[in-house]
Amino acid sequence: MNVHGRPTRTIWPSADGTAVEIIDQTRLPHEFVTARLATLDDAAHAIRAMFVRGAPLIGATAGWGMWLALRADPSDAALAHAHATLLATRPTAVNLRWALDRVRAEVAPLAPATRVTAARRLAIEICDEDVGLNRGIATAGLPLIEAIAASKKPGERVNVLTHCNAGWLATVDVGTATAPIYAAHDSGIPLHVWVDETRPRNQGASLTAWELLNHGVPHTVIADNAGGHLMQHGLVDLVIVGTDRTTATGDVCNKIGTYLKALAAHDNGVPFYVAAPSPSIDWTLHDGRREIPIEERDAREVSHISGRLPDGNTANVALLPEGSAAANYAFDVTPARLVTGIITERGVAAANAAALKKLFPEQ
Ligand code: MRU
Repeated sequence: MNVHGRPTRTIWPSADGTAVEIIDQTRLPHEFVTARLATLDDAAHAIRAMFVRGAPLIGATAGWGMWLALRADPSDAALAHAHATLLATRPTAVNLRWALDRVRAEVAPLAPATRVTAARRLAIEICDEDVGLNRGIATAGLPLIEAIAASKKPGERVNVLTHCNAGWLATVDVGTATAPIYAAHDSGIPLHVWVDETRPRNQGASLTAWELLNHGVPHTVIADNAGGHLMQHGLVDLVIVGTDRTTATGDVCNKIGTYLKALAAHDNGVPFYVAAPSPSIDWTLHDGRREIPIEERDAREVSHISGRLPDGNTANVALLPEGSAAANYAFDVTPARLVTGIITERGVAAANAAALKKLFPEQ
């Protein structure tokens, strides 16, 4: 997508060929700053500290992290160490394991001297593929918005609600949940997005809002708890969210709060769609609530909040009385029965094992 008028991805090899560059997402929306990852530890830190985040981008960064590790040491031991180090950074997004296993499976049989070149090729492949998958989601998801637009009075806008950031910043480019949104906006459909702020880290307020603003998509940031009220009043036509891991049976794990949006959507007859590129589907799991590991992050993300001061500096300030405990569950699972459909790069599937298998018979 464009940043200051220039096509930009979230991750790219450095011009000197010795490192990887990323957008430091902890600095958005107030500053656009890039960071350089030169070692395995840099890549692991960038994922853990959420300089990069979003399931597809976590996978892509891990792919590049394997290359960085092998540049320093292409031995079997270093390969195993890099895989384990990166896998331990964040537990929920399955794209991480998918990317790491893919790189390891392809480079392990090679002679150490040729592993670096192969890992670099794979990292590039993973990134380019991600963009292609997201374009497929745009194509598959656009008719859902077109159908709603066709049922509206001329000029009336389609209201989409989204949670967290499943936009281009969460991927290499294009985004997943936002892919059909951008496609609809670009095709001239009048559209408006309700953006859940997404406490505690506020990916909606700081990242999705920034993206939509940059692309000229009308949007309004709302408190996380507002969605149910808006749905009761007919102000949401459909919900589209991303996913960190979707089971073979269509249970959807995504940012904490997604489940409550799905419940409210179900109660109000609002279609609830999940944009899931195939690397986000964990074909080994059949019960999301029991089987998906839910990341618990530092309680400080709940007890404190960051923002820009009038003087332009950013500050992190306390919200809670000193002494109150805080808990930070980062994801939840929405059962398949609450999901209207899963938008994949191959089309829209009902959220059940048979429909998903029909789209991906090779699984
Ligand atoms: O903790 P985050 O910011 O990595 O969580 C991101 C989400 O929950 C996204 O919705 C999900 O990764 C899908 S991204 C295309």
